Amino acid sequence: MAIEFQQDEQLFTLNTRHTTYQMKVDRLGFLLHLYYGERILGSMDYLLTYYDRGFSGNPADAGNDRTYSMDVLPQEYPHLGTGDYRNTALVIRNADGSEYCDLRYASHKIYKGKYALKGLPAVHAGDNEAETLEILLKDSVSGLQVRLLYGVLAEDDIITRSAEICNLGEDAVCVEKASSACLDFMGGEYDFISFCGRHAMERNFQRTRIAHGCQSIGSRRGTSSHQYNPAVIIAQKDATEDMGSCYGMLFVYSGNFLCEAERDQYGHTRALMGLHDDLFHYPLEKGETLAIPETILCYSAEGFAELSKRYHRCIREHVCRGTYSRQSRPVLINSWEAAYFDFDGETIYKLAEQAAALGIDMVVMDDGWFGKRDDDNSGLGDWQVNEKKLGCSLGELVRRINDIGVMFGIWIEPEMVSEDSDVYRSHPDWAIRVPSRKPVRARNQLVLDFSRKDVRDYIFDQICAVLDQGNIAYVKWDMNRSLTDIYSMEHAQGKVTYDYVCGVYEFLERLMQRYPNMLIEGCSGGGGRFDAGMLYYTPQIWCSDNTDAVDRLRIQYGTSFFYPASVVGSHVSAVPNHQTGRTTSLHTRGVVAMAGTFGYELNPELLSSEEKDEIQQQIACYKKYEELVRRGDYYRLSNPFTDACVAWAFVSEDREQVLLSAVMQEIHGNMTVNYIRLKGLDPNAVYRDEETGACYYGSALMAAGIPMPVELGAYRSYQIYMEIVG
Ligand code: GLA
Repeated sequence: MAIEFQQDEQLFTLNTRHTTYQMKVDRLGFLLHLYYGERILGSMDYLLTYYDRGFSGNPADAGNDRTYSMDVLPQEYPHLGTGDYRNTALVIRNADGSEYCDLRYASHKIYKGKYALKGLPAVHAGDNEAETLEILLKDSVSGLQVRLLYGVLAEDDIITRSAEICNLGEDAVCVEKASSACLDFMGGEYDFISFCGRHAMERNFQRTRIAHGCQSIGSRRGTSSHQYNPAVIIAQKDATEDMGSCYGMLFVYSGNFLCEAERDQYGHTRALMGLHDDLFHYPLEKGETLAIPETILCYSAEGFAELSKRYHRCIREHVCRGTYSRQSRPVLINSWEAAYFDFDGETIYKLAEQAAALGIDMVVMDDGWFGKRDDDNSGLGDWQVNEKKLGCSLGELVRRINDIGVMFGIWIEPEMVSEDSDVYRSHPDWAIRVPSRKPVRARNQLVLDFSRKDVRDYIFDQICAVLDQGNIAYVKWDMNRSLTDIYSMEHAQGKVTYDYVCGVYEFLERLMQRYPNMLIEGCSGGGGRFDAGMLYYTPQIWCSDNTDAVDRLRIQYGTSFFYPASVVGSHVSAVPNHQTGRTTSLHTRGVVAMAGTFGYELNPELLSSEEKDEIQQQIACYKKYEELVRRGDYYRLSNPFTDACVAWAFVSEDREQVLLSAVMQEIHGNMTVNYIRLKGLDPNAVYRDEETGACYYGSALMAAGIPMPVELGAYRSYQIYMEIVG
């Protein structure tokens, strides 16, 4: 059993292959956190200490015991009201205005399989792969109940946490703040690693010490955002890629989130992951329940490499769903950087012809095919094919393209509306805005209120009417602005940000059910909604609007800490690059794009015949390595923020094959040699370089590395494929 309950000590122990998580119900019925880390035996109850601490209050039922304080004890689900002055996981405002709750253990349940969350994405696993623990906490005065949910995927070293807040009292209450996971650490010094950025430069690695005071990252943008990814690592201060303790917290949610880390007055550390408390006041009437999105926890005693490997497997096997989640993905060419808004049906057909000649599987018609949409100022919401612009019907275009052996995909942005659109003119109340004010525009567009079912239903019908016109194999679901003017014309205020995201999920679920064989790629101006919530519906996400191969080294490096290459949309684009003006070789662009779901974002008509030949070889090469990239273990071999040579490798699960990729970020006179040390190989096996025939022991490649060539020229890149000999 992965989950054990020891009745005499009221002790819950959650064991995975390499980790243990432990908590207990104490004498007053509080649920205290005891331990999370390397697998251990026995009760960790002895870690709790009790001293009379000044200015740390004592709950009434502690009687005269001044050593018992919720301000000091480590807790599973700390809440405002029992005397804990640190950041808490839950804040409830009662009908009388008090912000108070007092949750004590009531009962628990342990069962096979993984719990699901109604209307929210969550880790999924078979009954033999997971166990669930549900702990019910109750407030005896207000009737509030909180069900804490723990999913244990023992073989994967994954523990998930979520909470359901249910109002069983007589009066309405308001949830002012709610997290799904809290980690309290007794002692130790920790760093906070987050992935921050901006549009076209997402997920930069940032590491700071958790000092006294609170530090937090989060999003108030309505999406998980380019600015901070909902994923953090709490690392022991000396932890590295290969050594030391680290804990991951990955939020399975695509909207506003808050992750807080705090070192308290006694040097204890607390980390919380949950919904952002700004723009959130969720009223719960009698009998209503609110589900808090899940956090996926993982611990590694062997540094970040092992942590990433566990998250990658979890996302591939237990988050992504659908036909494509375990299948090779089509190599695609997208019309965006090839033509932007300036195309007709012939342009798309010609792209498809070029695709067929080059060995590309699919052409994607990006923005501009519908309504009045020749630039980004109008047309969103009018999901009718602009046949005049295309010069034919969509069905006809798709048929012609399929006839030459190329699949067809299309771009949509269902959540958006342009003020200059028929749909907005007839339904101005469908946009999220404060009625008395002029709304903030972004990219000259507004956001539809997807918390409303009538709005979703209308858009769903329009989009299905398009998708039903032909054999559409792929949809790129975009979302090109952040939410502002948060207000709903229909619902109680304070619910919109959460209900909006649930609305997006409901729409996506319907789309998946209706088109089970269609591949959906997520996108929000590139990686503005690159999160585990979206990955439950879209098995790949366009990683960034920045297609520059050198910038992508950093973006894809940061992305790799939590997300596997199989979900990272990555394409070769034209040079000079449209976002940076930088020129890199076609080879280097290919090497970088092959660390994801591969494709092209350029007009092949502008290429020389040598370049076209090279693209054909590139595609053949990608197809050869595709499974290794999609299913293999990914290793970061250097750091693009500090190293001249940026390298990474994919190693097959059986360690038989390895693909090493490297890009020279810097070149200097009389250049030094870079030795890249591999990871995850069989130390006793001999690996043979397919191209040169050179053979090396795995142990040598891991201990001493392999020298990268010194060659003149900026941004040279290398790909070395090796297999175990005999
Ligand atoms: C966003 C996407 C791009 C492209 C444009 C179209 O910026 O990230 O890839 O689809 O929208 O408007």
